Amino acid sequence: MRSWLLVEDEAPVAYGELWVDVEEQEVELGRLIVRPDARGRGVGRLLVASLLRQAARTQLPTALVRVVPDNAAALACYRHAGFTPVDDEERRRFNAGQPLAYEWLRHDLRAPD
Ligand SMILES: CC(C)(COP(=O)(O)OP(=O)(O)OC[C@H]1O[C@@H](n2cnc3c(N)ncnc32)[C@H](O)[C@@H]1OP(=O)(O)O)[C@@H](O)C(=O)NCCC(=O)NCCS
Repeated sequence: MRSWLLVEDEAPVAYGELWVDVEEQEVELGRLIVRPDARGRGVGRLLVASLLRQAARTQLPTALVRVVPDNAAALACYRHAGFTPVDDEERRRFNAGQPLAYEWLRHDLRAPD
């Protein structure tokens, strides 16, 4: 696990983690959060783009995220960065044993920007 903090004017403004899984050949972005008083002005999009750049440096082929389906702000951030939903079969497989029926999205890290 690698953690990242975005700082603005010397104060933490956003946090996120990369969960690097060499066995599964994927990197999951997790625990993303923007300080409540800093939301709605593009910090979430910047956080996702920054984490994605770091994920690409692992040389692994795929980035994944899981999102509660009604989290419109998070979904917008991921879609802006080029994440697309996994297919229904994968979604069922990824959600087996999970406490919630997450939306799962994927990004090919080998694709050019
Ligand atoms: C999700 C989160 C990281 C987004 O951060 P943010 O800084 O507010 O996001 P941005 O300002 O970059 O906005 C990103 C997009 O979400 C949209 N958005 C923001 N708040 C929204 C809301 N409450 N409802 C719907 N859309 C919203 C914005 O309009 C923007 O889309 P657009 O560029 O197409 O207009 C932030 O809300 C957060 O920390 N939430 C709590 C923790 C969480 O849910 N983490 C994600 C777990 S998967």
